[in-house]
Amino acid sequence: MKIVTTNLKREINASKDVCLWNHWDHEHLTMIHKGYHKTNLIYENNTVAFFEEYVTLPGLSFFPIKTIVFLTNTNNPDGSTTVSTYGKQLGIWSLSEATYLEKEEDKTEIKLSYTFYLTGIFKFIPSFFRYMSKRHNKRAFEEDIPLKLRRQKVKALNFKDFGGSEINSEFSLPLKKLKISPVLQHPIFSKKK
Ligand SMILES: [Fe+2]
Repeated sequence: MKIVTTNLKREINASKDVCLWNHWDHEHLTMIHKGYHKTNLIYENNTVAFFEEYVTLPGLSFFPIKTIVFLTNTNNPDGSTTVSTYGKQLGIWSLSEATYLEKEEDKTEIKLSYTFYLTGIFKFIPSFFRYMSKRHNKRAFEEDIPLKLRRQKVKALNFKDFGGSEINSEFSLPLKKLKISPVLQHPIFSKKK
Protein backbone atom coordinates (compact mmCIF):
# COMPACT_ATOMS: atom_id res chain seq x y z
CA MET A 1 0.00 0.00 0.00
CA LYS A 2 1.13 3.53 -0.73
CA ILE A 3 -0.22 6.41 1.32
CA VAL A 4 -0.23 9.79 -0.39
CA THR A 5 -1.16 13.01 1.43
CA THR A 6 -1.61 16.52 0.04
CA ASN A 7 -1.75 19.48 2.45
CA LEU A 8 -3.19 22.84 1.43
CA LYS A 9 -4.13 26.08 3.18
CA ARG A 10 -6.85 28.63 2.32
CA GLU A 11 -8.34 31.72 3.87
CA ILE A 12 -11.76 33.33 3.51
CA ASN A 13 -13.47 36.45 4.85
CA ALA A 14 -16.22 34.53 6.60
CA SER A 15 -16.71 33.21 10.11
CA LYS A 16 -15.93 29.63 11.10
CA ASP A 17 -19.66 28.97 11.59
CA VAL A 18 -20.41 30.16 8.05
CA CYS A 19 -17.72 27.80 6.70
CA LEU A 20 -19.16 24.90 8.72
CA TRP A 21 -22.69 25.81 7.61
CA ASN A 22 -21.45 25.54 4.04
CA HIS A 23 -19.54 22.29 4.59
CA TRP A 24 -22.48 20.52 6.25
CA ASP A 25 -25.02 21.74 3.70
CA HIS A 26 -25.27 18.51 1.69
CA GLU A 27 -27.74 20.08 -0.74
CA HIS A 28 -25.20 22.59 -2.05
CA LEU A 29 -22.94 19.85 -3.48
CA THR A 30 -25.02 19.22 -6.60
CA MET A 31 -26.24 22.84 -6.86
CA ILE A 32 -22.84 24.56 -6.69
CA HIS A 33 -20.11 22.06 -7.51
CA LYS A 34 -19.32 20.54 -10.88
CA GLY A 35 -18.87 16.76 -10.75
CA TYR A 36 -21.46 16.09 -8.01
CA HIS A 37 -24.55 14.43 -9.48
CA LYS A 38 -26.58 13.06 -6.59
CA THR A 39 -26.35 12.95 -2.80
CA ASN A 40 -28.49 10.56 -0.75
CA LEU A 41 -28.34 11.02 2.99
CA ILE A 42 -28.57 7.74 4.91
CA TYR A 43 -28.06 8.92 8.50
CA GLU A 44 -27.22 12.18 10.26
CA ASN A 45 -27.05 13.46 13.83
CA ASN A 46 -25.31 16.37 15.61
CA THR A 47 -21.75 15.12 14.96
CA VAL A 48 -21.83 12.72 11.98
CA ALA A 49 -23.42 12.20 8.57
CA PHE A 50 -23.42 9.12 6.37
CA PHE A 51 -24.39 9.35 2.73
CA GLU A 52 -23.87 8.01 -0.77
CA GLU A 53 -22.76 10.27 -3.57
CA TYR A 54 -22.54 10.02 -7.35
CA VAL A 55 -19.51 11.96 -8.60
CA THR A 56 -17.50 12.25 -11.80
CA LEU A 57 -13.85 13.06 -12.39
CA PRO A 58 -13.00 16.11 -14.54
CA GLY A 59 -13.37 15.16 -18.22
CA LEU A 60 -15.26 11.95 -17.41
CA SER A 61 -18.77 13.32 -16.81
CA PHE A 62 -20.29 10.34 -18.67
CA PHE A 63 -18.97 7.95 -15.97
CA PRO A 64 -20.50 8.62 -12.53
CA ILE A 65 -18.79 6.81 -9.65
CA LYS A 66 -20.82 5.84 -6.60
CA THR A 67 -19.04 6.62 -3.33
CA ILE A 68 -19.96 6.01 0.28
CA VAL A 69 -19.07 8.92 2.53
CA PHE A 70 -18.91 9.32 6.31
CA LEU A 71 -18.51 12.80 7.78
CA THR A 72 -17.54 13.73 11.35
CA ASN A 73 -17.41 17.08 13.14
CA THR A 74 -14.77 17.50 15.87
CA ASN A 75 -14.16 20.59 18.00
CA ASN A 76 -10.45 20.99 18.85
CA PRO A 77 -8.92 22.47 22.04
CA ASP A 78 -7.50 25.49 20.12
CA GLY A 79 -11.01 26.57 19.06
CA SER A 80 -10.78 25.13 15.57
CA THR A 81 -13.19 22.56 14.17
CA THR A 82 -12.23 19.65 11.93
CA VAL A 83 -14.61 18.09 9.43
CA SER A 84 -13.27 14.65 8.45
CA THR A 85 -14.57 12.85 5.37
CA TYR A 86 -13.98 9.10 5.16
CA GLY A 87 -14.68 7.63 1.73
CA LYS A 88 -14.13 4.76 -0.61
CA GLN A 89 -14.21 5.20 -4.38
CA LEU A 90 -13.08 2.72 -7.06
CA GLY A 91 -11.81 0.51 -4.20
CA ILE A 92 -9.59 3.29 -2.83
CA TRP A 93 -9.99 4.45 0.76
CA SER A 94 -9.58 8.16 1.36
CA LEU A 95 -9.63 10.59 4.27
CA SER A 96 -10.06 14.33 3.73
CA GLU A 97 -9.79 16.69 6.67
CA ALA A 98 -10.71 20.36 6.70
CA THR A 99 -9.77 22.29 9.85
CA TYR A 100 -11.44 25.67 10.26
CA LEU A 101 -9.86 28.25 12.59
CA GLU A 102 -11.32 31.76 12.91
CA LYS A 103 -8.08 33.77 13.20
CA GLU A 104 -9.88 37.07 13.54
CA GLU A 105 -13.55 38.02 13.48
CA ASP A 106 -15.17 36.76 10.25
CA LYS A 107 -11.84 35.63 8.83
CA THR A 108 -11.17 31.89 8.76
CA GLU A 109 -8.10 29.86 7.95
CA ILE A 110 -8.81 26.45 6.42
CA LYS A 111 -6.15 23.74 6.59
CA LEU A 112 -6.87 20.85 4.24
CA SER A 113 -5.38 17.41 4.10
CA TYR A 114 -6.29 14.83 1.45
CA THR A 115 -5.01 11.27 1.99
CA PHE A 116 -5.45 8.30 -0.34
CA TYR A 117 -4.58 4.70 0.57
CA LEU A 118 -3.42 3.33 -2.77
CA THR A 119 -3.35 -0.36 -3.66
CA GLY A 120 -2.97 -2.30 -6.93
CA ILE A 121 -2.04 -0.31 -10.02
CA PHE A 122 -2.97 2.93 -8.27
CA LYS A 123 0.21 2.60 -6.14
CA PHE A 124 2.23 3.59 -9.19
CA ILE A 125 0.48 6.90 -9.83
CA PRO A 126 0.61 8.84 -6.52
CA SER A 127 1.35 12.06 -8.41
CA PHE A 128 -2.03 11.74 -10.17
CA PHE A 129 -3.76 11.76 -6.76
CA ARG A 130 -1.73 14.77 -5.61
CA TYR A 131 -2.66 16.57 -8.84
CA MET A 132 -6.35 15.66 -8.51
CA SER A 133 -6.43 16.78 -4.85
CA LYS A 134 -5.01 20.20 -5.74
CA ARG A 135 -7.26 20.57 -8.77
CA HIS A 136 -10.36 19.46 -6.88
CA ASN A 137 -9.61 21.81 -3.97
CA LYS A 138 -8.97 24.84 -6.19
CA ARG A 139 -12.21 24.32 -8.10
CA ALA A 140 -14.36 23.50 -5.05
CA PHE A 141 -12.94 26.43 -3.04
CA GLU A 142 -13.57 28.91 -5.87
CA GLU A 143 -17.08 27.58 -6.50
CA ASP A 144 -17.88 27.98 -2.78
CA ILE A 145 -16.58 31.56 -2.35
CA PRO A 146 -19.76 33.39 -3.56
CA LEU A 147 -21.96 31.10 -1.46
CA LYS A 148 -19.89 31.56 1.71
CA LEU A 149 -19.77 35.34 1.27
CA ARG A 150 -23.53 35.46 0.64
CA ARG A 151 -24.11 33.41 3.78
CA GLN A 152 -21.85 35.75 5.73
CA LYS A 153 -23.98 38.66 4.49
CA VAL A 154 -27.22 36.88 5.37
CA LYS A 155 -26.00 36.59 8.97
CA ALA A 156 -24.70 40.18 9.09
CA LEU A 157 -28.06 41.53 7.84
CA ASN A 158 -30.00 39.36 10.30
CA PHE A 159 -32.06 37.95 7.46
CA LYS A 160 -35.43 36.38 8.25
CA ASP A 161 -36.74 33.48 6.21
CA PHE A 162 -40.00 33.61 4.29
CA GLY A 163 -41.92 32.33 7.29
CA GLY A 164 -40.63 35.30 9.31
CA SER A 165 -38.28 33.21 11.43
CA GLU A 166 -34.80 34.44 12.17
CA ILE A 167 -31.97 32.35 10.79
CA ASN A 168 -30.27 30.72 13.75
CA SER A 169 -26.95 32.52 14.07
CA GLU A 170 -25.49 29.69 16.16
CA PHE A 171 -24.23 26.84 14.01
CA SER A 172 -25.72 23.53 15.07
CA LEU A 173 -26.05 20.13 13.45
CA PRO A 174 -27.92 18.65 11.78
CA LEU A 175 -28.92 21.56 9.57
CA LYS A 176 -32.63 22.08 8.92
CA LYS A 177 -33.85 20.72 5.61
CA LEU A 178 -37.03 20.96 3.61
CA LYS A 179 -39.16 17.79 3.63
CA ILE A 180 -38.87 17.72 -0.17
CA SER A 181 -35.07 18.07 -0.11
CA PRO A 182 -33.41 16.01 -2.88
CA VAL A 183 -30.90 14.61 -0.34
CA LEU A 184 -33.65 12.98 1.75
CA GLN A 185 -34.80 10.38 -0.77
CA HIS A 186 -32.84 7.32 0.38
CA PRO A 187 -35.20 4.56 1.67
CA ILE A 188 -33.12 3.97 4.84
CA PHE A 189 -33.26 7.65 5.79
CA SER A 190 -37.02 7.73 5.11
CA LYS A 191 -37.52 4.63 7.25
CA LYS A 192 -35.65 6.11 10.25
CA LYS A 193 -37.57 9.42 10.20
FE1 LIG B 1 -18.80 23.33 -1.23
